[in-house]
Amino acid sequence: NIKGVLFDLDGVITATARLHDQAWQSIAEKVQAPWTPALQASLKGIDRMHALELILQAAGVAQAYSPAEKQALAAAKNQRYLELVQQLTPTDILPGIRVFLDQLQQHGYQIALASASKNAPTVLHQLGLAAFFPKIVDPNTLTKGKPAPEIYQKAAALLHLAPDQCVGIEDAAAGVAAINASGALSVGIGAAQELAAADVVFASTAELTLPHLQQVFGGGVR
Ligand code: G6P
Ligand code: MG
Repeated sequence: NIKGVLFDLDGVITATARLHDQAWQSIAEKVQAPWTPALQASLKGIDRMHALELILQAAGVAQAYSPAEKQALAAAKNQRYLELVQQLTPTDILPGIRVFLDQLQQHGYQIALASASKNAPTVLHQLGLAAFFPKIVDPNTLTKGKPAPEIYQKAAALLHLAPDQCVGIEDAAAGVAAINASGALSVGIGAAQELAAADVVFASTAELTLPHLQQVFGGGVR
């Protein structure tokens, strides 16, 4: 029986995926990486330093930057991202998410956050959702980011549940892979072809309701 729901943050709870994109784009321009849709998609769900590596590789200059220069680029990205995050308000919660969180709470489901973002507490605070998420995996404790299952295993463990007692929700292919590898059920939010590995894909968070999950996963979800 499903007892817990594990949430990704960026692109699931709020549209910050766009803000990460915007902040990375300025870095991509700085290092002259071609800012293609494929490169953008590959950054989703990936932790900050690995995302930077992907951009430097796309520019063919991964060797040209010293570790200190890479740290400086990552810090510049984060500074830009934090400026953008300051503008977030509860109106930036994606459609249906607030109601879904209420439904989960009312029905006694436990919830946890499984985001690679070190800025997750700040973002949740801006959105007015911090009270829903006392259980957040600290990305600093991870030895491997998504697509490795570790973050979803830790999120389930925070709830004292096994992964197969949980549903994970993700907008990124790397995140869906992480959920699947952990043994939890996976819900993808977005384009079916990008998220084909998910157990079920919803085009939008508006489709994310408890009755809908019950319909899709049957007896597993009360
Ligand atoms: C999420 C986003 C990624 C971002 C990562 C790290 O997974 O989808 O785009 O790179 O978090 O975020 P941070 O806020 O720690 O740089
Ligand atoms: Mg995401």
